[in-house]
Amino acid sequence: MIPNQWYILMDSKQIKDRPVGVTRMGEKLVFWRDEMGQVSCLRDKCVHRGVKLSKGQVIDGHLQCPFHGFEYDASGRVTLIPANGKNTPVPKGFRVHSYPTYEAHGLIWVWWGEDPPADLEPPRFFDDIDDSFSYSTIYDPWEAHYSRVIENQLDVVHLPFVHHNTIGRGGRSLVDGPGVEWVADDMFFVHVYNRIDDGTPPRKPSEVPIPDPTRDYKLEFIFPNLWQNYIQENVRVVAAFVPVDQGHTLLYLRFYQKFLRVPLLRDLVTWLAMPFNRMIARQDRRVVVTHEPKSSGLKIGEMLIQGDRPIVEYRRRREALIEMTRQKAVKT
Ligand code: FES
Ligand SMILES: [Fe+2]
Repeated sequence: MIPNQWYILMDSKQIKDRPVGVTRMGEKLVFWRDEMGQVSCLRDKCVHRGVKLSKGQVIDGHLQCPFHGFEYDASGRVTLIPANGKNTPVPKGFRVHSYPTYEAHGLIWVWWGEDPPADLEPPRFFDDIDDSFSYSTIYDPWEAHYSRVIENQLDVVHLPFVHHNTIGRGGRSLVDGPGVEWVADDMFFVHVYNRIDDGTPPRKPSEVPIPDPTRDYKLEFIFPNLWQNYIQENVRVVAAFVPVDQGHTLLYLRFYQKFLRVPLLRDLVTWLAMPFNRMIARQDRRVVVTHEPKSSGLKIGEMLIQGDRPIVEYRRRREALIEMTRQKAVKT
């Protein structure tokens, strides 16, 4: 995983009024909301005797351990040890690690890494998706490293094979480009130009329009784990690749639309689109879980081709971000 990043780790709908214990980033975490609706994330292990805090409850804006009632605030500090009495101060060392969280667009981000800088910027989202869209979400578990799941969504070469009877129908196996357009340090577009093999060689990335003024369609990726398939202005598929541990990923897949705005009907339409989206994801999953090695990297012995360029761009930037934090750690 790339350290010092905002990772989407939960969907807002998953955190209601009870604490929720999950594995994310290879760690046991507890998410909970106070009565103001503010989400917090702590390591899911009580400092006292090591049981899971997620089996406890939220009381007066604090998370209470189920075993002996220690109470924690959002910063992970123990505020009350009932057996010592409410007027006995709690020693300083009584705290669990807490992670900064950020909630927006029905998603929950967690800052994963060292202590965040004082001027920590909120995470980036697609600025062309707003409340005028309605959406449905599915959570799909993959037995794969999250980097491989991301790469699959940037892979334009696989479409006519893995999805030969769905979104890759038509046998457009020849890959022009593809065009990769960096729009920020942490965000790029992929312009897709697949076509039927008519015997002409594939056009080079420098020969395809970037961006393409004649059409909207593109893929978008935001580091470290957010992706959008911009199908049209009114229709999008968004995915968050939620790392569970080194071998497991949850794909949070959302279908967004705003061509239909009639209440209820619009929700029905987004909901009805989900079986198809799940089916596409399952076509991918069947193949992606067989990757060797499990995790992606720059030098892993793969023989790449021109059409793999978006994957190469992803790998290079991922490696550079990891290297940046490594160097920072050496300096400090
Ligand atoms: S184990 Fe949590 S209060 Fe004792
Ligand atoms: Fe696919």
